[in-house]
Amino acid sequence: MQAIDIIVGSQMGSAEYVAEQLLESLENQGINAVLHEQPDLSQCTNSYWLLVTSTYGAGDYPDNLLPFIEALNGTETMADRCFSVVGIGDSNYDTFNHAANNLATLLKEKGAKQLLEVKKIDVQDPELPEDTALAWLPQFVESLPQ
Ligand SMILES: Cc1cc2nc3c(=O)[nH]c(=O)nc-3n(C[C@H](O)[C@H](O)[C@H](O)COP(=O)(O)O)c2cc1C
Repeated sequence: MQAIDIIVGSQMGSAEYVAEQLLESLENQGINAVLHEQPDLSQCTNSYWLLVTSTYGAGDYPDNLLPFIEALNGTETMADRCFSVVGIGDSNYDTFNHAANNLATLLKEKGAKQLLEVKKIDVQDPELPEDTALAWLPQFVESLPQ
């Protein structure tokens, strides 16, 4: 199986921690993955992407993701990529997980193939975000070509 780029959007570290847990679990399953904590589109060269992002402001992307989004906007096609998005957000906001949704929409507009619907994690849930993400991870692994 090809390596996976794990692309992180995180301002205060929660989404980053979730991404690190997902990386560790993938590696324990013998799946190679590369963590991009300051994502640079030119470095995300694998065909399979797992994007993990929080949401800020009125549904905005975290700051560290902005250069990646800008580069993505300037790209003609992403048709050779497959992706899934995990969002970490707070349902007290009307713009619950909007960054995750917007990221999936942007990638689809660029021709990338969405493997699974956006997994929206709510920090208001009693479960820890990383536990919810780890429970979801097998679905992502199953969606990858063997
Ligand atoms: C100023 C501020 C604005 C936020 N805006 C949103 C929002 O619009 N939608 C949402 O779902 N969550 C929002 N959140 C919640 C964060 O996305 C959530 O706390 C997340 O766990 C932060 O992850 P991070 O530490 O990786 O940045 C906001 C949090 C703060 C502090």
